[in-house]
Amino acid sequence: MIKNIKQILSKFKSSKIWYYFLLFFFIPVYNFFWEFIFNFQGKLYYYLWKLKKKDSFDLKKNDKLIVENDPSFKKIAYDLKNHINEDFQKKEIHRFNQNLNLRGKVNKFEDYRIDIFQILPTNLKQQIIDFALNERNISTAANHLKVFPVIGKIYLFLNFPVEEKKERGAMLWHKDDFGYKSLDLFLAINDIDNQNGPLYFLKKKEPLGVFCKLTNVIKNALPGERNKISIKNFSEIFSDENIDALRGPAGNAIFVDSFTTYHRGGYCFSKNRIMLRICYQTPDSIDVQHKISENSFYFFEDIKKKNIKNIFHKYLFFKKLNFFWKLLRLPDNLMRLYRLLHYKI
Ligand SMILES: [Fe+2]
Repeated sequence: MIKNIKQILSKFKSSKIWYYFLLFFFIPVYNFFWEFIFNFQGKLYYYLWKLKKKDSFDLKKNDKLIVENDPSFKKIAYDLKNHINEDFQKKEIHRFNQNLNLRGKVNKFEDYRIDIFQILPTNLKQQIIDFALNERNISTAANHLKVFPVIGKIYLFLNFPVEEKKERGAMLWHKDDFGYKSLDLFLAINDIDNQNGPLYFLKKKEPLGVFCKLTNVIKNALPGERNKISIKNFSEIFSDENIDALRGPAGNAIFVDSFTTYHRGGYCFSKNRIMLRICYQTPDSIDVQHKISENSFYFFEDIKKKNIKNIFHKYLFFKKLNFFWKLLRLPDNLMRLYRLLHYKI
């Protein structure tokens, strides 16, 4: 009986009626709540931020944009690349492999990349922070989110080939299931081609955003592959013409909403890949709940709250979900809502 009801509901959630109900009725109403109620302060800061005209990248109503030949992007990529030379990479990969033990880890597929941000010298960390605070980058995120963002992640990933391993974990198709909207900035620190794991993504914006999910996910998956879709299964729904990738010289970058866009990447065949990732998110994302610290910035402790005078910077580094929303467990409940209502392909 319950199985039958589940089947009927599941079928209904794949119907065109459900699709149009979400698109024309539910999402506009939900979007209003998300911007003006759940992110009230972020909306206020967004309007304040926009009082002065600021430069931004135009995503052209899409939720992604490739940036090529931007001098400031190239500058930071070259500075980082100079420091992370071959010797540095070899040493870090050796150290990582010596300490690798996936048994204790939540994600069972994290054997192919190292976050090297924390071992950078202070001046390079500061350069990355300044890049994250760059007005053009913040404005691009704010324009996409329609609320002022927080910085949810700063990672500098060194990916490397692992013998006899195929695409797995985040190298398979997925959306990052952490919230309603985000904007990630991925910046290539070394040149990327098919040998070192380009980031692949669907070109077209999905009008339903997080309220749309593919159903042919990996069965009985381990943590790290849940809700992910094999490359073969994905190709049965989306042909190659629908897919683009971030390739090319160091300094190329992509802005992409990883919550709403199907993406995969980072599988290195023969060469290493170095990629900076800065995630602009909002305080209701489940991803940021443990990454906003009280007195110093989670990703760079030299940044102390008491020393930050700029209200926008204070928000970017330290804005936590307010007490009321925390009490209502807003982030978890919103995730439940997205899962419950999504249109199924
Ligand atoms: Fe992802």
